[in-house]
Amino acid sequence: MKLHFDIQHKIFHLHNKHVSYIMQILKNGHLGQLYFGKRVPAESDYSYLLEMLPRAMTSCVFPEDRLFSLEHLRQEYPVYGSTDYRQPALEVLHPDGSLITDLVYISHDVQEGKPPLAGLPATYVEREEEALTLTIHLKDEKAGLLVDLLYTLFEDGGILARSARIKNASKDVLHLKRAMSLSLDLPDHDYNWIQLSGAWARERHIKTRPLEQGIQSIGSMRGISSPNHNPFVVLARPDAGEHSGEVLGFSFIYSGNFLMQAEVDTHDTARMLVGIHPFQFDWALQPGECFTTPEAVVVYSDRGLGDMSRTFHRLFGRRLVKGYWRDRERPILNNNWEATYFDFTQDRLLSIAKKSRECGIELFVLDDGWFGKRVNDNAGLGDWFPNKDRLPEGIAGLSRRVEEMGLLFGLWIEPEMVNRDSDLFRAHPDWILHVPGRRQSAGRSQYVLDYSRKEVVDTVYGMLEKVFSESRISYVKWDMNRSLTEVYSVALPPDRQGEVFHRYVLGVYDLYDRLTTRFPHILFESCSSGGGRFDPGILHYAPQGWASDNSDGIERLKIQYGTSLAYPISSIGSHVSAIPNHQVFRSTPLSTRANAAYFGAFGYELDLNSLSEEEIDEVKGQIAFMKKYRRLLQFGDFYRLLSPFEGNITAWAAVSSDKKTALIAWFRVLNTANKGFARLKLYGLLPEARYHISGRKGTYSGAELMNIGLITTDEASGEIAPHTAEAGDYASRIFVLQAE
Ligand code: DGJ
Repeated sequence: MKLHFDIQHKIFHLHNKHVSYIMQILKNGHLGQLYFGKRVPAESDYSYLLEMLPRAMTSCVFPEDRLFSLEHLRQEYPVYGSTDYRQPALEVLHPDGSLITDLVYISHDVQEGKPPLAGLPATYVEREEEALTLTIHLKDEKAGLLVDLLYTLFEDGGILARSARIKNASKDVLHLKRAMSLSLDLPDHDYNWIQLSGAWARERHIKTRPLEQGIQSIGSMRGISSPNHNPFVVLARPDAGEHSGEVLGFSFIYSGNFLMQAEVDTHDTARMLVGIHPFQFDWALQPGECFTTPEAVVVYSDRGLGDMSRTFHRLFGRRLVKGYWRDRERPILNNNWEATYFDFTQDRLLSIAKKSRECGIELFVLDDGWFGKRVNDNAGLGDWFPNKDRLPEGIAGLSRRVEEMGLLFGLWIEPEMVNRDSDLFRAHPDWILHVPGRRQSAGRSQYVLDYSRKEVVDTVYGMLEKVFSESRISYVKWDMNRSLTEVYSVALPPDRQGEVFHRYVLGVYDLYDRLTTRFPHILFESCSSGGGRFDPGILHYAPQGWASDNSDGIERLKIQYGTSLAYPISSIGSHVSAIPNHQVFRSTPLSTRANAAYFGAFGYELDLNSLSEEEIDEVKGQIAFMKKYRRLLQFGDFYRLLSPFEGNITAWAAVSSDKKTALIAWFRVLNTANKGFARLKLYGLLPEARYHISGRKGTYSGAELMNIGLITTDEASGEIAPHTAEAGDYASRIFVLQAE
């Protein structure tokens, strides 16, 4: 990685062996964007990429220069109102009431490595040589406003991390109305826009459409990143696919309101904006105060979506997730939620734990209902002490008993919430987000604590710290089951209410930070009614997230396939649950439920006592299989082979880093009669190596498996007896490939 600064032409060229990012200081001192893409030579003069034409109906910055208009120039951190009419990166309300800002280059500096972002989750480096950070200092002289743009280029792949630091060096309060993390002007709009969208229980489905003139965007105004849209977008060239073509993946490392937007203008350029959603955002930046935007990451690849995803997996898995569990195989768990819901006693829990242990499970998780007066979802949230009526020995006693069986113990919490029927609410009714004198909207009979207030976070921390330190807790599932409403803090003055959404998220990060620092060996799994806050911000603290409340083996194909676009496989919480499935009432074979769930942080979500002896044997086999291949499944290279969004067959693979072992998963939704022959082309193998394939005779070269394909014709191959469950609907198979 290097920065080449051409003083004569005022051009910055940041590059590694894969990509180039080129900017130029414009005539008015603003920062212009010249190029981001595959590496080009460093020494050339790229000023010619600044194209200008005299156009009618154009406003110009300098009266004597009819060429220079920001409307037609590509920029790095654009502002609105001084000849540019597109949506800006920054909007500041000045004390005189104006919204005009003029950001002029002052200086820049370069450092090896990557500085942390105060109070915010972000990617990091372990060795300085892993990245280079360029900081460009801009200033609005009249306003006394300083803006630092941070660009970190990693040595691995085409990864650029961006954020902005905005400092008020004046004597007045400046109102930040919009402070995006990334703005990237592209010279054309010949892209497909790919987003991960859905709803509760069908999160992160892939939706694709071509970019068109005008604005297209996704975002959240719910206070959480949401199940509706994930803070992740890809711009893919029309000819790009899984294995080839140019793509740009944008990810926002943040867990609250966000906006990801592409604006295609009348001259066909495209402006990508990523940042905190400006809707109702208003940060009263005090004199001397600095506001740091969350980080946005963009990954460039000219080798398709698969390569882009593997780059994100490496970055997020190794340099965003942090702590003890980052590189460790994740324990196989059984969670009692779908087994018992609220209907449990200590004895029932222990009997499920005992059976789990017999099957080889490593971690038993007690979900909702262990605290306060929580016997249903109307009461108890906020009272983080054990309910001794239900658990006479408390969490300390239960966790000890579970550990004595040879299992780790995990616990569910939902620390951001409170029920009216709780001691916490009775003591502090004004600790929830609410507007005095107005109705308070409920969600699942619960209210959102005002995490913009330190005393609220302190109190919850105190209660949790006590339970965790008194018991034997190895894992925590941190849930969050509603969106925010009446977002107003009685602790802040009227002109600072536009800060509450963001301050709430900072409070969540603060609690995560405190708990993970105090209990570094606890594995945190995030959850928000399933995958409602499955985002890279939370991933920094919680190495895995419950991907969806929908644990049906077939529904999971789309959810996990979509999730894999951005998120490492080790982060995708995926469990085998009972049939008929509790969300879609479908009955799928036990093998298919496991075959899907293996590709993630694997576990069960059922009362194993209700399974037949035959099924228990199958579960034991699954757990043994998972233990054998867990490192490969969770940390190997992931290849998507056939998409559930495009057909009846889904396939994907995990390949070891030495390419000698591969697990190929194949799923068929519905069976059809008298099918044709089928081959599945594989990727990522060693062409010269010869592979054994589980259940097949002989060996096959990597070249033939990648170029001719793996025969997946089922009945014709005689591998699966037509009368077995695997031969009908919802069938699946795993092929284990091992090089000689
Ligand atoms: C929603 C989660 O997604 C479930 O897994 C479970 O933990 C419930 N909340 C408990 O209330």
